Amino acid sequence: MRYLGGKYKLRKQIAEVIKEHRGLPLRGKVRPYWEPFVGSAWVTTQVDKEPIYASDINKYLIAMWKALQDGWEPPKNITEDEYNAIREGRKDVSKALTAFVGFGCSWGGKWYGGYARGEDRNWAREAHDSLLNKIDKLQGVNFFQANFLQVEPPEDNMVIYCDPPYKGTTGYKGTEDWRADKFWNRVEYLSNKDHKLLVSEYKAPDKFDLVWQQETKTDLNTKDGKEKRIEKIFTI
Ligand SMILES: C[S@@+](CC[C@H](N)C(=O)[O-])C[C@H]1O[C@@H](n2cnc3c(N)ncnc32)[C@H](O)[C@@H]1O
Repeated sequence: MRYLGGKYKLRKQIAEVIKEHRGLPLRGKVRPYWEPFVGSAWVTTQVDKEPIYASDINKYLIAMWKALQDGWEPPKNITEDEYNAIREGRKDVSKALTAFVGFGCSWGGKWYGGYARGEDRNWAREAHDSLLNKIDKLQGVNFFQANFLQVEPPEDNMVIYCDPPYKGTTGYKGTEDWRADKFWNRVEYLSNKDHKLLVSEYKAPDKFDLVWQQETKTDLNTKDGKEKRIEKIFTI
């Protein structure tokens, strides 16, 4: 499923960094894992060894993940009329379907960012297939809805991978007032407890250290081709 800011291309590399920090199993146990900005769960699919927790502020998205875990099958086709009726609340549908249509059938995977069309593709069908392929790898994940800035981690001594909205970006439901300064304060606060936080961002406050970086091409086109970015992970 297309998802704004989804980590599809880098999911394996990022999961390796997470793995290193969860440590060697001690009496069969690794540090518990939490991903508080789960989105389309690309990184989560690559993380093994429970306990694994995943949350997001978007309650529709979390309802979709839980429904998929329980065997829900999303539709293979969504017309533009259906899309608009759901977006405008004219059609009463489940939260799971609201999320599926809001991301999976929208332009660039941006929450109700316009009906995806063109390229002779059936976007609903592609989102359907992608989600059903993924859900097997996510059966052991504990999904819950939460605002990262306000919730305590579900266990002690966790490894917490954050992939927040990048500074200055918009496009996620309920995050119009995203404040990077509050986010970094929260990361520092939790790190001062017993948690290890790993953060995907292009820039971090000076006291944070870079633990990993890799050049990548974004989906944005420039006159020289695809725009290049260096993806980074920071910790403290
Ligand atoms: C960059 S996306 C995550 C993409 C994900 N790694 C993937 O591969 O699909 C950022 C996510 O943060 C969520 N979000 C934004 N503000 C949040 C908050 N305060 N607490 C929890 N989640 C939040 C958005 O709903 C969105 O799903």
